[in-house]
Amino acid sequence: MRLADRTRNFTSFKVVDFVQAAVELEAQGQDVVRMAIGEPGFVTAEPIVDSAIKALAEGKTFYTPPCGIPELRQAIADYYKHSYDLAIDPQRIIVTTGSSAALGMVCDLLLNPGDGFLMSDPGYPCNPNFVRRVDAEPQFVPVDAEGNYQLTAELVAAHWRENTVGVMVASPSNPTGEVISRENLAALYQEVSDRGGSLVVDEIYHGLTYGDEPVASILEITDKAFVVNSFSKYFGMTGWRLGWMVVPDGLAETINVMIQNFYISSPTVAQYAALSAFDPATMSILESRRDEFKERRDFLVPALRELGFGISHVPEGAFYVYADVQAFTDDCEAFCWQLLHEHGVACTPGTDFGHHRSNHHVRFAYTEPLDRLKLGVERMRHALVQPA
Ligand SMILES: Cc1ncc(COP(=O)(O)O)c(C=O)c1O
Repeated sequence: MRLADRTRNFTSFKVVDFVQAAVELEAQGQDVVRMAIGEPGFVTAEPIVDSAIKALAEGKTFYTPPCGIPELRQAIADYYKHSYDLAIDPQRIIVTTGSSAALGMVCDLLLNPGDGFLMSDPGYPCNPNFVRRVDAEPQFVPVDAEGNYQLTAELVAAHWRENTVGVMVASPSNPTGEVISRENLAALYQEVSDRGGSLVVDEIYHGLTYGDEPVASILEITDKAFVVNSFSKYFGMTGWRLGWMVVPDGLAETINVMIQNFYISSPTVAQYAALSAFDPATMSILESRRDEFKERRDFLVPALRELGFGISHVPEGAFYVYADVQAFTDDCEAFCWQLLHEHGVACTPGTDFGHHRSNHHVRFAYTEPLDRLKLGVERMRHALVQPA
């Protein structure tokens, strides 16, 4: 069958292959410690589920306005006020079908065929494909542990090309969990805007940070950047497919037309459910889950270091550890397959996240409970550490 040329450029999400293989092994009776997929192991908090049940009982089964029910846009605006002390006009808040839809629409909005968008390598594997989907060019900037695996104003200046029209970053990031400091974020924005470009900041892991200082939102620095966010991670609603974006003034009507055509609206039940996501009762559940993630991170990082994994800096957020595996292998995929098949530990090869030194890295997600992580570490000790 004749397919469009662009389909040949889409790259697969390798983690899905590992998850699939883990599911098959489990079906054969083998236990697998799952540290591959970036999905919180907690089921959605009860108040959110209760609101969904109520919405269904009340017949909330119809399309909603394209940019989301007004109550939810207002609730998200209130959340920015409460959490960041920011007054965001709800008209700038667009509810989307997961942040994935937001990322796709941002590319529709900003990129013409042949344009370039800068992004970090390693980075979130889907971003290059969103850019390719609009026949534009993902432009990769290698980043290393020394720079917290994040883009800086200097890196943007060094890698900006004639066709570059913008930059995408995520803070905290996937796969590294590293954040961009307020100062660096401001400098990054300045560099991009001086060049007439657009800055897209993926804030999907906001809320899941473990340092003393809250992570800065780009919205505290400018109202001219694009923010992508989601109910998937901190709010534990991956399967509900609900996210949002905050866009600069004056774009809501264009986006309204896009959503009317491409999605009609985001999932209705999910939107009514999400109205309870910001309630104090829900927030206290989410905060205790955040504390648990921190406890897991604080166990996992030293335990992995002790096994010989290279982790130069304790990641500040998300639920990932991006570890150097040079002490064990030059082929992270073979390493991950071996850990899975022979030792019952699933993790994600660095090659899922880019090319830059990717064969020397794997990503561990600490989404399973502490006792399971401990079991995973013991299995890896058995696999990797030779008895003296
Ligand atoms: C950095 C980042 N952005 C966006 C997404 C997409 O999430 P969703 O579409 O569930 O909101 C993910 C999912 O893993 C992610 O890690």
